[in-house]
Parts: sequence; C-alpha cells; structure tokens
Amino acid sequence: MNRRTFLKKLITSSLALFGLGGGTYYYAREIEPGMLTIKEADITSHRIPISFDNFKIVQFSDTHIGFHYTLDQFEELVNTINKHNPDCVVFTGDLVDRPDQFKWDNRIIKSLSNINAPYGKYWIYGNHDHGGYGTDIIKEVMDKSDFVMLKNANTKIDNGLDRFVIAGLDDVMLGAPNLDHALEGSNPELFTLLLCHEPDYAEVVQQFPVDVQLSGHSHGGQVQIPFFGYIYTPTLAESYVEGKYSVGLHPLQLYVSRGIGTTRLPYRFLCKPELNIYRLAHDD
Ligand SMILES: [Fe+2]
Repeated sequence: MNRRTFLKKLITSSLALFGLGGGTYYYAREIEPGMLTIKEADITSHRIPISFDNFKIVQFSDTHIGFHYTLDQFEELVNTINKHNPDCVVFTGDLVDRPDQFKWDNRIIKSLSNINAPYGKYWIYGNHDHGGYGTDIIKEVMDKSDFVMLKNANTKIDNGLDRFVIAGLDDVMLGAPNLDHALEGSNPELFTLLLCHEPDYAEVVQQFPVDVQLSGHSHGGQVQIPFFGYIYTPTLAESYVEGKYSVGLHPLQLYVSRGIGTTRLPYRFLCKPELNIYRLAHDD
C-alpha cells in the first residue's frame, strides 16, 4: 500500500469513528483498548503426537508498549498469561512501539522474566522491533528475560516421549527472512509450527513443510465497522487479518492474532485486544 492510499484509509477510518459520535470515540480510545479477551483454539493434526495432547501454547503479540499501552498494563498481561499455566509461550513481534524513543529500564525485563513456561519462551522480531534502531536492544531485553530468539532458526520441544519443531522467521518487512535457514536441521517428519510476524507471508510459507503458522501484525484492523468489518490493515496483513485460515493445498493452518496494543491510531472499535491460547490435539 502506498503512502497516499494509506493516508486515505487512515482518514476514512478516523471519519467513520468520529461519525459514530463523541461517546463512541471515547469508548474506542479509552475503553475498548483495555478490554483484553482470551481467544482459545485447538490446533489439530495427525502429525501431533498423542503425548502432546492438551499441550498449551500461549501467544502474545504486538504489545506496542509506550504507545497508549503502559508497563502497568503489561504487568497485568503477564499475570494473566501465568494464570493460564502455559506449557510454552511465544511472542510474535512488536514489543514497544518506538524503540528509539522508549525510556528503557529494567522493569520490562522483570515483567518478561516473570512469565513462566516449563517448555520455554520463544520470540521473533516484528517490524517495529527492527525499526527505530531497536534490533540490538530488543534482543538484549529478550535475552535477559530468558526468551529464546528464533531468527531464521528452530528448536525442538521434547517431552521425553516425542518431539515437535518450533521455528521462527526474521521480520519480513525490515529483516531478512529465510525459510531454508529457519527449517535447517529440523526433521520434516515432525509436526512443525512457525512464528512469522506478517501473516500474508503464509503464501510463501505454504510451499515449505510447515504445519502451522502463528502471526500478528494485523491488529485485526483495530477499527471495525458494523456489517463492513475492518477498513485498514498494514502491508502484509491485507489478505489474512484475524482468526484461522487454511492456506494452499498442503494445507498450512494460519492463525492471526489481533494482538494486544495499538499503533498509529490509539483506538480499537469492535476489535478488542486478544491473548491467544492454543491447545494441541492429535487427530486421526
Ligand atoms: Fe507489525
């Protein structure tokens, strides 16, 4: 999407929101962005070993801390994540909105460190993490918080009986994604889950031996209009905006999170923020 089209859509969505009245605007700016929902889904596949039935993966995405999303809110999010007793936690990019303007201190590391997941915590870069000179500082923060970076890399989750693969891609827009490297050394016989910030990259991913892709980036459009749906989504979140999709003949199962925070416009309307919980299930 070029700049002119983007601005047109931005203005259209702003006018649509103002057109609904001042009360609606207040709701969209002050109320709905704080209405976190828990979105649960079962991921089923004949390739998931039975011993991983009920294995719980919690995904949080697009927190954009610093842009109308505070560290206090993030601490609450961490408590919510822990209350759900995840086996494994994944973060799919865009931790803070503007890394170069954010006032970094140890508080964010403390919060991220408090997330408990016996099978590990994994993360990938989003475009905002690379933008604003954030590449190194985000990595340092995540390293110190015991999150394992999956930048064109993979690891295996092993429960003592069976294994599956979690792989991650570098950000598609501002990084250097490489699926061959991301899957290098992984066993294509194993159930494989890929973290990729931008959902529309599923069109490429579906050509590779990946069973499930978890993405964010879209924010679900942030503003949705009754009977019409979302008005604007960012580049590479235009085909796949929220929820579950089957992509290609393989098929690749794609899940797109609306994410937690907001960016560009500080409001959400009919598009509440969400924390995603996935349960694995073997399927014959
Ligand atoms: Fe993004």
